Amino acid sequence: MKNLKLIGPFAQLLTLDKLPLKGSLKDEQLEILENSGILINGEKILKVGAWEKLLKEFPEAEIQELKGDYVAVPGLIDCHTHICFGGSRARDFAMRNAGKSYLEIAAAGGGIWDTVTQTRKLTQEELTQRVIQNASRHLADGVTTIEVKSGYGLSLEEELKMLRAIQYANSKIPADLVPTCLAAHMRPKDFAGSNSEYLEEISESLFPILKKENLCNRIDAFVEQSAFSPEEILPYFSKAKELGFELTVHADQFTAGGSEVAVKVGALSADHLEASGDQEILRLAKSNTIAVALPGASIGLGCDFTPARKILDQGGALAIASDWNPGSAPIGDLLAQASILATFEKLSSAEVWAGITFRAAAALDLSDRGKIVPELLGDFVAFPTSDYREILYHQGKIKPTKVWKSGALIFG
Ligand code: NIG
Ligand code: FE
Repeated sequence: MKNLKLIGPFAQLLTLDKLPLKGSLKDEQLEILENSGILINGEKILKVGAWEKLLKEFPEAEIQELKGDYVAVPGLIDCHTHICFGGSRARDFAMRNAGKSYLEIAAAGGGIWDTVTQTRKLTQEELTQRVIQNASRHLADGVTTIEVKSGYGLSLEEELKMLRAIQYANSKIPADLVPTCLAAHMRPKDFAGSNSEYLEEISESLFPILKKENLCNRIDAFVEQSAFSPEEILPYFSKAKELGFELTVHADQFTAGGSEVAVKVGALSADHLEASGDQEILRLAKSNTIAVALPGASIGLGCDFTPARKILDQGGALAIASDWNPGSAPIGDLLAQASILATFEKLSSAEVWAGITFRAAAALDLSDRGKIVPELLGDFVAFPTSDYREILYHQGKIKPTKVWKSGALIFG
């Protein structure tokens, strides 16, 4: 066989094989292969196993031998980001910490609308550079697949500019970017009409172009008192579904409501959920919608964490994402945020790793990644340690020093 590459040895390799999509996980369920290697054929994993055995079995393979101790895990998957934006919201942060309310900050020119104004000032090329810069930082942190939302354009032309910037950035970097249209982030202040009229205009003018230009296959909406109500969003989602888009929802961040919509419309994921109560958790856990915790927003805003423990204990599928955005979650460090969520919500290592790999892949409807097993893409990262527990224990301070995407070493 041509094109074979044998990479290793890894002191430990977390395959995440055989772990289910839903429910709580114990660390004893983790498959940890010691002194092992990964055999790559082209872009995909062909075999995983003991290093010495693979060496003997595949003498024709090109060998990438590592010196020192490494732990390999699947490439991280961030299923919720807003990394396409202009400007900064440091002023919001200072005002919030000085005790100012959401409404006071908005009245002073802050909030989502501030970022819309800053983003509209950038050209498509400038915006492309921002996405490349942010995605490259994420990639160096081991995130090989990154969902990226629009939602700071909020008009036909400006949303197209954002999604075209994301599409172009995707062609320029090794990470895979998964674009999502979040034109329903809020009703833009310069739109003279109701929420429903705005949504109708967007669905009629923008949706067909997204399909025609193949710009994205996912529609998101912020269902919240300050944005769109369940009644306003349902017709918008129906239209999107009719056209064949996948759906995802910013749900139950401050008040419950969005997660019920998500389950009703069969959304791939319901994200945030800080305000979900027992009823919402149970409904989600019984559904096929992935619950996505966004600890970065809780840390950034000083709010409650998503009830991740309860979601898992009820049998739900829990992914963890960064929500990297200039307003509520500026950290943009998925591993740090997931490690911190684990201490507050008492999550096992297995639950954290599942949440930022294959469960996040499911939230993006990607079945070709998220575990280190044969047939999947060769997306994996190596941390410079011999004990996998060290990684989450250091809460983001131990970074991967090697990153492979589709079988190619792209960093380290
Ligand atoms: O996911 N909740 C709504 N949207 C973003 C925040 C966006 C912003 O504040 O710019 C979020 O937290
Ligand atoms: Fe978000």
